[in-house]
Amino acid sequence: MSVTHAVPTPPRLRQHWPWWPLLPLYPYGRRPTLVRELVPGQVWSFEQLQGIFYVAVPIRMTVLRIREGLLLYGPVAPTQELLGQLHQLEATYGPVTTIVLATSSGLEHKLPLPSLARAFPRAQVWVSPGQWSFPVRLPLRWLGFPAGRTHTLLEDGLPHGDQLVWDSLGPVDLGLGRFMEVSCFHKASGSLLVTDALVAISAEPPELLEADPTPLLFHARDRGDEPLVDSAEQRRKGWQRLVLFASYFQPAPLEVLPLGQIWSQAFRPGLRNPRSYFGFYPFRWQNGWQEAFSALLTNGQPRLQLAPVLERLVFPRHRGLLLEWLRRLSRLQGISQMVGAHYLAPMACTGTDFARLAAELESRPWAPSSGDWATLAAIDDRLLAWGLVPGAPSE
Ligand SMILES: [Fe+2]
Repeated sequence: MSVTHAVPTPPRLRQHWPWWPLLPLYPYGRRPTLVRELVPGQVWSFEQLQGIFYVAVPIRMTVLRIREGLLLYGPVAPTQELLGQLHQLEATYGPVTTIVLATSSGLEHKLPLPSLARAFPRAQVWVSPGQWSFPVRLPLRWLGFPAGRTHTLLEDGLPHGDQLVWDSLGPVDLGLGRFMEVSCFHKASGSLLVTDALVAISAEPPELLEADPTPLLFHARDRGDEPLVDSAEQRRKGWQRLVLFASYFQPAPLEVLPLGQIWSQAFRPGLRNPRSYFGFYPFRWQNGWQEAFSALLTNGQPRLQLAPVLERLVFPRHRGLLLEWLRRLSRLQGISQMVGAHYLAPMACTGTDFARLAAELESRPWAPSSGDWATLAAIDDRLLAWGLVPGAPSE
């Protein structure tokens, strides 16, 4: 009797994401997924990496167990590997019945939705209101959202209202489109799911970067001609600098080098490879970068906070809207943790933490323009001057 053995698909193919050219972010066509169970039998985190020039942070899809089966919040690339892991959960907890895209503006969350929806043809798809495309506004169907089973949150109702509490932050008119995200509180596990607005940042790099720490080692260096050296300290240093990039684009302690200096440090032995970008490293970190990073934590520990990019580019003229949302969240009964789409999750918290954040944002200078915030402020000023974003709303 002959026995045939199935040849296992190599990781390269199981992690392949063919649609990466639509938004060409690192790690491009290969998207490994890290699955973690956040609340046993209730909440799971499916994390992938995304970034520009090694400024790579986790992007997370959260899977909730609901009475009818499973709900996916915040799509990520549905690679073969990811679908296999989801099918394993389905075998125990029931089918994926609901897929939610809870942001109107976050392109990185929007692009994987069509193929994820195709992978679960019986699931109902819910999207936040006011989905927009640039440069041309296209109907939902043309964006690849499945016709006949795509619904708009709030406008068409809210799914699983007996088990979930939905709340909307926004809309904020951004001129070309709108910012809006819809948070989801899962009563059974006490988990609040959010997308981009709130983050919690850890001093240590995320587990997702353990398998390939290249982005960390790249940014841990001080010069382009230094080799990429792997150590726990270099990984931590690289992570903290990478967070500063992602938070402020160009924080105050970061100097961008003149082209001549960048060239002079490039193409050194050991760095003549794409992994090292051939030694091109246009940055120099000044003293004070550690303090800039520490300011994103409290006594070295993660804290619940508003993402600086959103404070300066989305909400500078809409603080009231944000404060109202935070205060509504503070009144949720039984909240014990937050799961955001980026950075650390879960972040243990109670309603008091949301009230405290609202009070802090109200009492300190709002959307500052100096120090680490200067680059974000310059972008906002430029967009305002060009008339691409509206000024303060009239009361
Ligand atoms: Fe995002």
